[in-house]
Amino acid sequence: MANESQNWVLMVTAQTPTNIAVIKYWGKRDETLILPVNDSISVTLDPNHLCTTTTVAVSPSFQQDRMWLNGKEISLSGGRFQSCLREIRSHACDVEDKQKGIKITKEDWGKLHLHIASYNNFPTAAGLASSAAGFACLVYALGKLMNVKDDESQLSAVARQGSGSACRSLYGGFVKWIMGKEENGSDSLAVQLADEKHWDDLVIVIAVVSSRQKETSSTSGMRETVETSLLLQHRAKEVVPKRILQMEEAIRNRDFTSFSRLTCADSNQFHAVCLDTSPPIFYMNDTSHRIISIVEKWNRSEEAPQVAYTFDAGPNAVLIARNRKVAALLIQRLLYYFPPSSDDLNSYVIGDKSIVKDAGI
Ligand code: DP6
Repeated sequence: MANESQNWVLMVTAQTPTNIAVIKYWGKRDETLILPVNDSISVTLDPNHLCTTTTVAVSPSFQQDRMWLNGKEISLSGGRFQSCLREIRSHACDVEDKQKGIKITKEDWGKLHLHIASYNNFPTAAGLASSAAGFACLVYALGKLMNVKDDESQLSAVARQGSGSACRSLYGGFVKWIMGKEENGSDSLAVQLADEKHWDDLVIVIAVVSSRQKETSSTSGMRETVETSLLLQHRAKEVVPKRILQMEEAIRNRDFTSFSRLTCADSNQFHAVCLDTSPPIFYMNDTSHRIISIVEKWNRSEEAPQVAYTFDAGPNAVLIARNRKVAALLIQRLLYYFPPSSDDLNSYVIGDKSIVKDAGI
């Protein structure tokens, strides 16, 4: 390090949105490398909302790697953080800031310590894919700080080792996580299927049923499913490969009827697989079930589906309306069934490319 003083700090801040899977990832074939049992497809949400903001800093005066999440210090001793930090350090390149007189060589990155501060603007671990945005943002910010030359796809393989779904948040628009075949995980990475402009009629409305932390984490839930569910094997081998092809086609053609059928069916099968786990895992609650009934009834009363629903490892509904007009009707219906005075729904987050607002219910 060709720097006279030890007082310098180099910093980078990045913002990464969360993503919602429309064909779900559930189950790992390798727990350490985070390699999935099937491909998955997601849509990345508006970058200005439901996102993580992470600042990473390096300084010779830092004594150890430290991290703060939403203002509270958290331990970095977990294997996932360590994997991401190790991987990204191994891809680091020389960095020079002539104005500040700082030069960091490739080798220096192994000796320097990092401070990381990360904020989620949405409930952490409540089934709104906070780990997805979190690890994607961490890896992206560190990649910028360390002048990593890898493209998004290569970075996605690093983020994957923090949390599987994180690899899909390196891109906007529609993203596919290819499960890969290699034992070392080198071909298990994300690719962009279509960018955010490709299908910008869609409006995503998230009905926050509960912002409490979920009881069964995705990680332990999917481990138990892999160990005990026969339905998962059928899903991973027979169902998902066909659905992936159909979903890619639906996205390519902006075919909302197919998109919505596949999205709802895949969410329902994911939750059926959770129920097929021993002991069974319940992520949805009565309010989630009521939302499904309302959407199903509405879709059946029209010539073509208007809204798709999908639920991750929690009770919150992610509703995808075919356009703005339908989104407005959807909000109206939700307000009718769950009036502001009801305890069932906390708030709505409405998102598409340009409008995202908290309806403040
Ligand atoms: C239901 O990516 O959170 O949201 O890889 O163990 O960190 P780990 O799990 P995580 O699981 C996400 C599961 C899901 C479906 C999905 O996003 O594809």
